[in-house]
Amino acid sequence: MSAVEREEDTVRYEIENNVAWVYFNRPAKRNCMSPKLNRQMLRVLEELEFRDDVGVLVLTGEGTAWSAGMDLKEYFRETEAQGLPGVRKSQREAYTWWERLRWYQKATIAMVNGWCFGGGYGPLFACDLAFCSDDAQFGLSEVNWGILPGGGATKVATELMPMRVAMYHAMMGENLTGPQAAQYHLVNESLPADQLRARVKQVAETLVQKNWATVKYTKDAVRRVREMTYDNAEDYLIRLQEGLNWFDKSDGRHVAMKQFLDDKTFKPGLGHYDKNKTEV
Ligand code: COA
Repeated sequence: MSAVEREEDTVRYEIENNVAWVYFNRPAKRNCMSPKLNRQMLRVLEELEFRDDVGVLVLTGEGTAWSAGMDLKEYFRETEAQGLPGVRKSQREAYTWWERLRWYQKATIAMVNGWCFGGGYGPLFACDLAFCSDDAQFGLSEVNWGILPGGGATKVATELMPMRVAMYHAMMGENLTGPQAAQYHLVNESLPADQLRARVKQVAETLVQKNWATVKYTKDAVRRVREMTYDNAEDYLIRLQEGLNWFDKSDGRHVAMKQFLDDKTFKPGLGHYDKNKTEV
């Protein structure tokens, strides 16, 4: 890769059937996250978030890596050379897009096609769902080079994995295979590499058929209630549903009730209502 890598080339995307496929696009550097990539990813996320033709965002990697974590040269060495202001600036640039992704307006899926290290756990956790190929490798490699898994990586490991597994994973710096990542809930499923895209496409296209407002409120509910007591969650979910009633301008729940109770054209237990029919 030349020294004149353009910021806008570090991420690319394509939109197909209401699904935005977003690529970490530094394959020669195993898609490690540089300040340029972090800035460009935020731009791309902002560009796609509220588009009417995007219902689901898939985050994947060009080449053999999903993301080899933070760029040791451009994110660590070169920003440290700028002192504390440089370090804090580059941290903010990374953490901002991960946070944006955690609360994204649309459903998000990590399609982990290869290496996933360290800082990569931030966007991995930020995505609502995650699928990987059996030959992907996941690692908290920080301990191998003298730092701790920061930038949320330790938090992600303990959020998703049992404590003993997270501890072993963080302390030993050994990689997990795709099937192990699925076993320890870093991802939903691990699949043979040649089946990964088809499975993710199927999940994405199923989500696209659903009511997008309902999906947004549902995914936020799952993330929020994890930190609440039962009573707080119960109360919050009442308020959230009432918020959704206002937010969903298509009045989806009444449309769906009609289709089930009156028209008898669908059963909620067996699939989604037809959101193209708007009669309540
Ligand atoms: N930071 C900076 N550069 C990185 C990088 C990272 N995290 N990961 C890969 N690269 C660069 C390499 O330095 C190399 O650059 P070069 O071609 O200019 O020499 C290039 O990407 C290809 O990497 P290479 O190591 O040759 O690829 P590989 O396929 O043999 O190995 C990895 C892939 C991911 C196992 C290996 O690159 C690696 O261990 N990367 C660091 C992973 C890590 O610890 N990340 C956590 C950071 S918090």
